Amino acid sequence: MKAIAVKIGQKGSFLVNVEPPKGPVGNQVLLKTLYTGVCGTDRGIINGLLNFAKAESGKEILILGHEGLAQVMDVGDNVRSLRPGDLVVPMVRRPGKCIQCGVGRQDNCEDGDFVEAGIRGKDGFMREYFIDDEQYLVKVKDNNLGKLAVLTEPLKNLVKAYDVYQTVSDRYLKMCSDGSYECKKVTVIGAGPIGILFSMLFSTHGFQVRLISRSDKEGVATSICKKIGADFTQADAIKLNPEEMVSDVFVDTTGRPEVIGKGLQALKYNGVEILFGTTLAGNYSITGALVTEAVEKNVTIIGTVDGAKQHYIEALNYLSMWKETYGNSLELMITDEDVPENSIEALNGDGKGEIKRIVRWS
Ligand code: BGC
Ligand code: ZN
Ligand code: ZN
Repeated sequence: MKAIAVKIGQKGSFLVNVEPPKGPVGNQVLLKTLYTGVCGTDRGIINGLLNFAKAESGKEILILGHEGLAQVMDVGDNVRSLRPGDLVVPMVRRPGKCIQCGVGRQDNCEDGDFVEAGIRGKDGFMREYFIDDEQYLVKVKDNNLGKLAVLTEPLKNLVKAYDVYQTVSDRYLKMCSDGSYECKKVTVIGAGPIGILFSMLFSTHGFQVRLISRSDKEGVATSICKKIGADFTQADAIKLNPEEMVSDVFVDTTGRPEVIGKGLQALKYNGVEILFGTTLAGNYSITGALVTEAVEKNVTIIGTVDGAKQHYIEALNYLSMWKETYGNSLELMITDEDVPENSIEALNGDGKGEIKRIVRWS
């Protein structure tokens, strides 16, 4: 059967023929892949820029794909919650042995001894069929979502980020005087899928959202911001004055250190900066004046990665709600779709001009 893989230490992904899985037995489920999404993490692996990318032990190649949507074909004798025909989103991160992993919070693993499908130490979902354990499969209850359910995996990271934001904000009175968030300003940098989904998430909770990005591919950010009642500014955040971006919450999805420095300067008292993007490039030196300002303002910086099963479940609920309320906004984000054979060239390219690319497996 077909799969898309990389050889660690070698640039470029390729199509490969692999053995179909055997089973299912016990708690296992046999799955047919419907769609997989492509993101910066995949391109980082393909270009040899992710130093933690790793094949399964004893294997030469790593099958890519951590953003998946699959259909149940068959179940083992002990499987209770799934039946053939059900749609599921498989989880990325699988637990190691630490205490966080032991309670299903491998997203907060404290020793790094976990594996991630399609990223480190475990084959991913860019293959026609795979076997997985019931406990790592999140059921899609809303069949109307169709291929949009492939956005669950990236969105679950943001649902967790929002959760962390709420927790750290419990140290002060976090709401406006009317008990809502409507007086709170959120600035999101970067109009990729993550920046757009962050904007939708904060906007759903009533915050005033402004999305800032150097580019607006196919006008999608402008059109979605209009739908959700957010502002869109096409600009390079590092060229704007901090006074122009005054925020209660500053979300960076670019990973550019200069943007993060600008964000710190733009925060209000009790402000929170959420760091989500990663890049190995760039440099920013922090000044004593900025350190003092951050201290005096009670600033919180949150770094956040991955999400728990609960965040996948909530992500699916947001997608169903947004499909209802925002018309074709989510569809607009899926700018590119192709079969595996025709996806390799684009996967190995730089992704410019795409918002979300997906691979159609059946
Ligand atoms: C995935 C996360 C994962 C992270 C780091 C992201 O693309 O969505 O689940 O933890 O990459 O490997
Ligand atoms: Zn991803
Ligand atoms: Zn752990």
